Amino acid sequence: INTIGVLTSGGDAPGMNAAIRAVVRACSYYHLDCKGVYRGYQGLIEGDLEELNARSVRNIINKGGTFLKSTRSEEFKTKEGRAKAHEQLKKAGVDALVVIGGDGTFTGGVHFFDEFRFPIVGIPATIDNDINGTDYTLGYDTALNTVVEAIDKIRDTASSHNRLFLVEVMGRDAGDIALNSGIGAGAEEILIPEESAGVERMLESLHKSKKSGKTSSIIVVAEGEKSGKNIFELADFIHEQDEDYDIRVSVLGHIQRGGSPSCFDRVLASKLGVGAVEALLDGRTKVMIGLHHQKVVRIPLEDAIKGHSKIDKELRRVADITSV
Ligand code: F6P
Repeated sequence: INTIGVLTSGGDAPGMNAAIRAVVRACSYYHLDCKGVYRGYQGLIEGDLEELNARSVRNIINKGGTFLKSTRSEEFKTKEGRAKAHEQLKKAGVDALVVIGGDGTFTGGVHFFDEFRFPIVGIPATIDNDINGTDYTLGYDTALNTVVEAIDKIRDTASSHNRLFLVEVMGRDAGDIALNSGIGAGAEEILIPEESAGVERMLESLHKSKKSGKTSSIIVVAEGEKSGKNIFELADFIHEQDEDYDIRVSVLGHIQRGGSPSCFDRVLASKLGVGAVEALLDGRTKVMIGLHHQKVVRIPLEDAIKGHSKIDKELRRVADITSV
C-alpha cells in the first residue's frame, strides 16, 4: 500500500475531524501518501479528491463537523455508482480506503469490498452509538455532554415554574443517548426504543413523584421511542390523564450533532485513526476499528452493522433507583 484515501460519510459527528487528522498523520508517520475525499461516497463517485499532508490537518482536532464534508449518497447504493467510485480510486492511485461513519457507510463499504476486493477499513462515527462491536462511536460522548448541558438549563425553568418538561433527544433507533443523558441530567423517566412498557411506566412514576412531593419533572424521550405517539401527542396524553400538569416540550434536534468534540472523543478518534492505518499496513481489510474494554479492536465490517439493540440493564436499574 502506498496511498490511502480517507472520507467521512453519513451524519456528521464531533470527532470526525480528529479522526481524519489521525489517519493523515499516521500515513505521514509510516511514509504513505494520503488523499482526502470530499463529500463522502458521492464525492468519490465524482472524483473529488485532494492530496493531504500532516500540515493540511492542523488546527482541526478541536472542530466539530467534518472539513471533508459528508453526504448520504444514493448513487453509491447502486452497483453502477460503486463502479464509478472504483474507477476514480484507480485513476487517483489510491490503494486503500478509510471510511469514517455509521452503519450506512459500513454497508456501502461491505458492498464495495465484495465487488472489487478493494482494501477498506471503517471507523465508527455517529452520535447514536448504534454500532456493534465497539463500546463507543465517535461523537457520542460529545453529544451526551451537549444534551446534559441543555437539560441542566431546562431544569432551571422546570423548577422555577413547577413544570413538567418532555425533552426529545436523537439516537435514531437506539436509546443510548436518552438513557445515559437521562441519568446524567437526573431525569424523572426515560423512554427508549428498546423497551415497550415506557409510557405506562412513565405515568406510574409521575404519579408516584406527585405523591412524594416532587414539583417539577424532566422526562427524556428518545426520538425512536416506540409508543406510537410523537412527543407532542405524548404531552397531550399526559395532560388528558392529569390536567394539573403544566407541560412543555423541547426537541433538542441538531445542536446534538455539532460542537467541539470532548477530550474523550478526540482521544478515541486519534486511537481509531492510527488503528485504521496500522490495520491496513498489517494487511487487514473489511474491518472496523473499534474500542472494546479500553482496547483497540478489529471487527469484521459485516458484524459492525449487525445492529445494536443491547440496552444496559444495569443502567436502567440505576436510572430507576436514582429517580425515586
Ligand atoms: O445518525 C445521526 C442522526 O443525528 C440521528 O440521531 C437522527 O435520527 C438522524 O441522524 C437525523 O438525520 P439528518 O441528518 O437527516 O437530520
